[in-house]
Amino acid sequence: MDKLVIEGGKRLQGEVVVSGSKNATLPIIAATLLAPGRYHLANVPNLVDIRTMANVLRVIGAQVEHRAHELLIDTEHANFPEAPYELVKTMRASFYVLGPLLARFGHARVSLPGGCALGPRPVNLHIKAIEALGAKIALDGGYIVAEAKKLVGTKIVFPISSVGATGNALMAAVLCDGETILENAAIEPDITSLAEFLVRMGANIEGIGTTTLRIRGVSSLKAIDAEMIPDRIEAGSFIAAVGLAGGDVTIKNAQPEHMQATIHAARQTGIDVEVSGKNLRVRSSGKLEPLHLTTAPYPGFPTDLQAPFMALLSVADGNSSITDTIYPDRFNHVSELTRMGAKIHLQGNCALIEGVDDLHGAPVMSTDIRASVALVIAGLRAKGQTEVLRVYHLDRGYEKIEEKFSAMGATIRREEGTL
Ligand code: UD1
Repeated sequence: MDKLVIEGGKRLQGEVVVSGSKNATLPIIAATLLAPGRYHLANVPNLVDIRTMANVLRVIGAQVEHRAHELLIDTEHANFPEAPYELVKTMRASFYVLGPLLARFGHARVSLPGGCALGPRPVNLHIKAIEALGAKIALDGGYIVAEAKKLVGTKIVFPISSVGATGNALMAAVLCDGETILENAAIEPDITSLAEFLVRMGANIEGIGTTTLRIRGVSSLKAIDAEMIPDRIEAGSFIAAVGLAGGDVTIKNAQPEHMQATIHAARQTGIDVEVSGKNLRVRSSGKLEPLHLTTAPYPGFPTDLQAPFMALLSVADGNSSITDTIYPDRFNHVSELTRMGAKIHLQGNCALIEGVDDLHGAPVMSTDIRASVALVIAGLRAKGQTEVLRVYHLDRGYEKIEEKFSAMGATIRREEGTL
């Protein structure tokens, strides 16, 4: 597996363009299964996770052509409603195909995702929602087998906000008989963009952007073209990077209205963030104020930026804390940041961070996407050389990260084929 080698201590300058949002694109790819036809998706990030989802669709029988930032998907001849373990185990988001497959074919066989680096991440809410819509669910050899001649609308109240379960239920409901109401639905931009995509396909959805979605089932949908929204998590990671390394960078093609909590948190640490249309000018001296942060569903501070902001706060002038209310186990970056000199003490789902003057380069690695990026940006600040091993995880969620940071003036390179 490749590794990234970083010589820390360079200020970041210039411009960086944000890619399309991975987490918004994945459910939209699944949604193309709902109606046979040809789709053209633009501003698609060129990432391993997108290629995995493309492979899931190929197994189902769709034709998928992936050009740099475009996906051409033809679901006309998709006829095998199954998502195999080999793919689902590498990316949980493959589970998104359950709702659309069931809605189109009346039958779906989708592997359960199994464990992952963020601790136990069940899919019980997805399954309950599909069941509530009238599907019969069975477990067969690690696969969820769902059957329903016709799904029927109902009221579903989610006990907690779940991006994935909301997306799956929404995609299943658009072709139901009658009306479905989703209460306590997730309102992350990824879900809003999915709902807007479905409406453009011909779905009838009211309440988009609110926690109550009212879906009136339609008999058919049509294939469309669409542009993916910018990645608010990638943009937020760049803000944290500039905060750590110091510098003056304009982040282009972002969607700042999706980033209110992130921008607010960054400003509280003393990072100057100037919003101008789709651009964010980010300036930092590298001297940071401490902060107490708690992750929460949108529009709260995103759990996906918990790790990058922990790297940031590890060098703040005083004591900070970050509580993760979404994933209480999402802390595998703590021990690696500690190897770089950070002082972080875990108390349940809360990390207490005692700011240190500086970080020091070290070989580090992680087993999830966001933890890995936290280590890269810590390396941009650290004295000496940092090696981030197992870059595979970064490649799942960050497009050409070393090229983007190099263009901003960082000394960072990829070494191929090492551990
Ligand atoms: C999505 C994002 C992920 C992000 C997360 C929270 C994608 C591909 N991934 O993941 O990057 O960190 O939202 O913003 O978009 N839960 C259950 N049962 C379920 C489903 C979820 O208990 O059936 C719990 C989870 O364990 C977690 C919480 O609900 O504690 C929220 O998870 P959820 O919003 O579903 O996350 P994902 O959609 O998996």
